[in-house]
Amino acid sequence: MLDSLTTVAYIGAGVLFILSLGGLSTQETARRGNLYGIIGMLLAIAATAARMNGGYPVLGGVVVVGALIGATLAARVAMTSMPELVAILHSFVGAAAVLVGFATYLDPNQHLTGVEAKIHEVEIFLGVFVGAVTFTGSVIAFGKLRGSIGSKPLMLPGRHLINLAMVGGSIFLMTRFMGATGHAGLIPLGIMTGIACVLGIHLVMAIGGADMPVVVSMLNSYSGWAAAAAGFMLSNDLLIITGALVGSSGAILSYIMCRAMNRSIVNVIFGGFGAAEGAAPGAGSAIEGEPTPVEADEVATIMAEAKSVVIVPGYGMAVAQAQHPLFEVAKILRAKGTQVRFAIHPVAGRLPGHMNVLLAEAKVPYDIVLEMEEINDDFPETDVVLVIGANDIVNPGALDDPSSPIYGMPVLEVWKAGTTVVMKRSMATGYSGVDNPLFYKENSRMLFGDAKKNVDAILGTLRGGQSQAAAAE
Ligand code: TAP
Repeated sequence: MLDSLTTVAYIGAGVLFILSLGGLSTQETARRGNLYGIIGMLLAIAATAARMNGGYPVLGGVVVVGALIGATLAARVAMTSMPELVAILHSFVGAAAVLVGFATYLDPNQHLTGVEAKIHEVEIFLGVFVGAVTFTGSVIAFGKLRGSIGSKPLMLPGRHLINLAMVGGSIFLMTRFMGATGHAGLIPLGIMTGIACVLGIHLVMAIGGADMPVVVSMLNSYSGWAAAAAGFMLSNDLLIITGALVGSSGAILSYIMCRAMNRSIVNVIFGGFGAAEGAAPGAGSAIEGEPTPVEADEVATIMAEAKSVVIVPGYGMAVAQAQHPLFEVAKILRAKGTQVRFAIHPVAGRLPGHMNVLLAEAKVPYDIVLEMEEINDDFPETDVVLVIGANDIVNPGALDDPSSPIYGMPVLEVWKAGTTVVMKRSMATGYSGVDNPLFYKENSRMLFGDAKKNVDAILGTLRGGQSQAAAAE
């Protein structure tokens, strides 16, 4: 009876997880998607706990402590640090898969024989391998995103051979593990865990900063497969389903991101596969000319006179938290008949959907928020583009400078508009460390300073103009 109820609960939770993923695909349904996920997870935990034979005080204790730590961290984390949090959470999944693997191997209650025992050993070995790679890879990704580890790729000579040797060594250890009697397999399993940990470090160290979003998404996928492997070890169907959902959706997201950056996924995963060994990434061609600075009140005037305005937000808008006054600016312009739209690059900011979340928080209507493919052809007919805290995603070098490290990445072609105003604090480079020729173009204007302060100043000028117009009427 309990078994059938658990099965029904697991199927229900599995369906809710699928509905959750479906819901998360659009902004309008994202809240509902989240809710399905939460209900599914509560159902899954309750059904799994119901299957236990005692041990409830320990389970309750760890759940309460874990939930408290998780809720505190999630409540405190800034949107800009979210990828770091995601990366470190992936490392927990990897570590859990390793621990489950060792615990299952040492479990005195396992009495499998013959083919079943062999299959179980394969599950343990693969689960520990994927878990260890995910664990250390995620820790390195966390360090790189946090800036405590340099974002430049570590290009060791013969690094693909080193990786191959580590995989080959692990396969050899698997044969020793499977042939071992009693708990003698613990030694090959332990050595393989060490090798897989080094492999995880090496794989992610070889990946450059600009590819980090894809790596985090790939590690998300690995953590899913590690969870699925743990599901096989623990004979828990729901963990297998959930792991497979996370594993495949992470892989699909990585593929979509690679397509958006015009990168091959193999190239990203193996860190510059096909690039010259030991070669440092290029810096792009030297740029000539001088940037043209502009003041906030001039920008307000340019925008007030424009018939069409496109706003391109980037990471700097997230740092400055300028989305609220920015939408106020958009409202004033829209009220006087200007066409105002927001253009979102797929990797703007530091995590997928970063800008959409910030704009939704400021209550910007979804119908004026457009994806790159939807708006890129409209720039030549746009009077003014306001680039706010974005850099790499509007770099023309990505299209026309083969020596640029981001060459081939599709970008928002903002320089084709009548005037492009770029808001940032200095001439500093963005995430990928590449100079941006956009800042030196004849029709570009640089509005230096903190984005929030400058948007507030533009808003003040526009409001001043509004009240003057009202007084004149
Ligand atoms: P970036 O290229 O990183 O440029 C952001 C710019 O914002 C910087 O040049 C900085 O210039 C400016 N800035 C920072 N704080 C500011 C503030 N308070 N006020 C005004 N400006 C400020 O950002 P992007 O154009 O959004 O491109 C995203 C980059 O991140 C890509 O290279 C992408 O591959 C990478 N990445 C993306 C993700 C995802 S999934 N979205 C995840 C990780 C990495 P100043 O210092 O001069 O102000």
